[in-house]
Amino acid sequence: MKERYSKGVWDSGGGLRGACRRALLFCLAACAVLTACGGGKEAQEVESLRIGVSLYRGDDTFINNIRSELEQKAKEYEQETGVRLHMDIQDAKGSQNTQNNQVERFISLGCDVLCINMVDRTNVSLIIDKAMAAGVPVLFFNRQPVEEDMNRWDQLYYLGVDPKESAVLQGEILVDLYREHPEQVDLNGDGVISYVQLEGESSHQDALIRTEWSVRTMRDNGVPVEKLTGGIANWERSQASALMEQWLEKYPDQIELVISNNDDMALGAIDAMDRAGVRDINLLGIDGTVPGIEAVDSGKLLGTVASDKEEFAEVMLGIAIAKAKGEPLPDGITLEEGKYYWCGQDVVKRDEDKVIKNK
Ligand code: GAL
Repeated sequence: MKERYSKGVWDSGGGLRGACRRALLFCLAACAVLTACGGGKEAQEVESLRIGVSLYRGDDTFINNIRSELEQKAKEYEQETGVRLHMDIQDAKGSQNTQNNQVERFISLGCDVLCINMVDRTNVSLIIDKAMAAGVPVLFFNRQPVEEDMNRWDQLYYLGVDPKESAVLQGEILVDLYREHPEQVDLNGDGVISYVQLEGESSHQDALIRTEWSVRTMRDNGVPVEKLTGGIANWERSQASALMEQWLEKYPDQIELVISNNDDMALGAIDAMDRAGVRDINLLGIDGTVPGIEAVDSGKLLGTVASDKEEFAEVMLGIAIAKAKGEPLPDGITLEEGKYYWCGQDVVKRDEDKVIKNK
């Protein structure tokens, strides 16, 4: 079951997303064609654009899903406009040093704009210095630099998914189920829902905010949750699996709920449950990655909060192209404080008939 919810600006009227997305694409295409057909030197110059993209880790499932969408959207844009996009996507493999070198190289190659998924979001000075010196706009995404850094230059932008919104939606999945079927949440019927929590990187804005707000939402709405334990698994399936294995041993038959900061870690917990032959625990994720949605469909995951990857990629390209050309943003993309764009997200829940019955 998929419930539409979105903060994305062009969906504010509800249900208009598809039409507006087409409008946005059309606008991107029309702007490019107009410029390209305009004649003169300027027109020649925009027939190809160079975009440098650096990923904090190419093996991150969510980031990988965004990358696929981005490549797809870039292809569509090229086909529709005839403008050649030289999009160079590099993997920083978790090293800030590598990422800094990638940025230097992008700039020396003459990139018109940079899209950076920071390895260390608190260590952006060098990248901002280089970009400012070269006059190349930067769109940061998914790993948000602190405000002070973002305010250093008016050519710095951020695209992400509002973590508080994700967490509140995640919490509400449980609240809704508890109100309708408390017995499916309080599995042992003792009036308390004992949970464990899987957290992302400790320095990541999404992890900190999601950890707090999902639980708060449950409590504020009258769900009697009680924490057994929690731990940091850095967004990773294998790390989460190892933690969950320990917790299943330490708290036999006590865990009723796993609240995970992302889908991959929830999937890791499911791996551990499968190994231990445990089935009757509810799990919640965030991201709506391809394997995450599959787990909801198969009934293994109670629900997830899926960010709209297509919107993410399209807005990323929309901002990048406009900034590369020094043009206004396409209709439909409005930046908060002139800098921030928050991508829409949807709740995806397990169907009633997929409920895993207690053994
Ligand atoms: C989060 C996402 C995680 C991971 C992380 C990387 O927003 O939920 O799965 O991809 O970003 O920065």
